Amino acid sequence: MMLVVAGPASPMLSERISELLEADLVNVEWKLFPDGESYIRLPRDLKGERVIVVQSNPPPQDKRLMELFLMLNLVRDLGASEVFAVVPYLAYMRQDKRFRSGEPVSIGVVAKLLECVGVDAVVLVDAHSKAVLEHFDVDVIEVSAMPLIGDFLAKMKLSNPFVLAPDFKAYSMIKVVAQRLGAPCDYLMKVRDKVTGEVETIFKEVDVKGREVIIVDDIISTGGTIANATKISLDLGAKCVYASCTHALMVGNAFNKLKRAGVREVIGTDTIENKFSKVSVAPAIAHALKRAL
Ligand code: R5P
Repeated sequence: MMLVVAGPASPMLSERISELLEADLVNVEWKLFPDGESYIRLPRDLKGERVIVVQSNPPPQDKRLMELFLMLNLVRDLGASEVFAVVPYLAYMRQDKRFRSGEPVSIGVVAKLLECVGVDAVVLVDAHSKAVLEHFDVDVIEVSAMPLIGDFLAKMKLSNPFVLAPDFKAYSMIKVVAQRLGAPCDYLMKVRDKVTGEVETIFKEVDVKGREVIIVDDIISTGGTIANATKISLDLGAKCVYASCTHALMVGNAFNKLKRAGVREVIGTDTIENKFSKVSVAPAIAHALKRAL
């Protein structure tokens, strides 16, 4: 028997995964105690079952992580025979090394905690870097949303699309989007101030004149990276600009920032469930789980 446990942050994605796996679905009961502590309850017997806990970590990340730890440990404690943690967006993965002396390698701490609570394997979607995966001792299955984003964009029937990576790191990841669209692609170069977090994008001639530019990244957080790339694209004569990413965190006034910069539409996935979740990563996750189970 296989059971999908839907965490508070991922109800829709959990349902889609359970449908594709033809597995039972159960939603955890959850609330906050008056002092802010997390409470969860799983009103179901699961002894001997293979359990897939689905819980993304968008803000408030620490709360989402704590709920995840409680759920994973609970299903193990209640007798699950195997425990998979599907964490579509894993918090702290951008702190995958010590950028400045005195900093923690935060993702290493999160990986250790996940292992401590009793997972057999972890499924991630578009991890921020390969270094993230190296912090785990248990099996990590990484799936990418990029082919699905490419297929979604292809259905939009843009007449002359161009796929642009806002920094070099994103370039290898977004090539599959360009392939699915049959479009050319290129990248910009970005520098981030390690202290303030401000990003600067270096101007570069890219052949976007008269084209529909789709800027694709793994994460949109404050929107600064995409806003810079949008301005450059429009200055170079792009017809219009779309922004797409796997994890649309869209914190604070990110959406207004992108609108002001000239972005026509933001296309994210259901790794983060919000109004930008237009592409579901459930098929990619279900496919990976079917192979692993
Ligand atoms: C960082 O390298 C990531 O790939 C994204 O480019 C970054 O997280 C985007 O952040 P923001 O939207 O705040 O510029």
